[in-house]
Amino acid sequence: MFIRGRRLRQNENIRNLVEETSISVNDLIMPIFLMDGKNKSEKIDSMPGIFRKTLDEQLKDIDSAINLGINALIIFPSINEKLKDSLGKEALNKKGLVPKAISIIKKKFPRILVITDVALDPYNSDGHDGVLKDGEILNDKTVEILCRQACIHAEFGADIVAPSDMMDGRVAKIREALDRKGFLNTAIMSYAAKFASSLYGPFREALNSKPKVGDKKSYQINPKNYREAIKEVLLDEAEGADLLIVKPASLYLDVIKTSSEASVLPIIAYQVSGEYSMIKSAAQKGYIDNDSVMRESLESMKRAGATAIITYFALEMAKLLKN
Ligand code: PBG
Repeated sequence: MFIRGRRLRQNENIRNLVEETSISVNDLIMPIFLMDGKNKSEKIDSMPGIFRKTLDEQLKDIDSAINLGINALIIFPSINEKLKDSLGKEALNKKGLVPKAISIIKKKFPRILVITDVALDPYNSDGHDGVLKDGEILNDKTVEILCRQACIHAEFGADIVAPSDMMDGRVAKIREALDRKGFLNTAIMSYAAKFASSLYGPFREALNSKPKVGDKKSYQINPKNYREAIKEVLLDEAEGADLLIVKPASLYLDVIKTSSEASVLPIIAYQVSGEYSMIKSAAQKGYIDNDSVMRESLESMKRAGATAIITYFALEMAKLLKN
């Protein structure tokens, strides 16, 4: 006697009955690349189908996203080179691109969840997430700036702030700073397990935020380390994060899986730019089918335990789910 596993696969109804994973539009977080100005939209060569746009243009995309049922977006600013300096001071400009965008988006679409990236790399002339001095990224000095940056985002209406810098202790300090200013309801979605991955290349091209010197290995996690990643996840939970990001996603499903078991917080998978571009470019060459690989990649993250996913496929996937 042997077990006939195929009994549960013999027709579509029985396959549907035993299906374990599903994905819905509620699971999708849409990233937007924002630039200053009006009426402009620039193709990002390394990310086919994705554009850097001025706010007026992005508002049209946000409108379509909402019509498709998307509930959340995350903003990434492309900052004019002239505004960058070694302290990333533009990150604290209340008249800057991000505060302006948050308030206009929330005014026009009050219900969409606006998430902001808290880190200095788009603003920092060195391209690092923190302040670089004599070859070292200064942890505590950076955290101070990030606390102010997070409070500004909250002040202008961000629902969720997402520190992506990987400095030590920043989640606790940001929580404290938000609470002190009365932003009790602003949630923190921390990039808890963020690896020093080579898959961020297209993103750095999109924002022109590549580190000018060195790399990010003194703050982002070594891709070879699993236990260290779980340690970071548990630390951010203990420090008061509300949601935890694992990033990248597809090559780190083991980390998503364990994080979802080790922590009681929602785990957010970040399907990063390189993951998107690998699928997109192979699909454009006809080597793989875009829609089914997109779906399979996102479902694998859900299967591993992700609650929601930040993905450049958000709009496309939402369209696919609608049909
Ligand atoms: C920066 C940040 C990065 C991404 C999100 N926030 C890049 C980096 O750490 O160098 C990468 C996202 C992607 O590749 O899609 N703090």
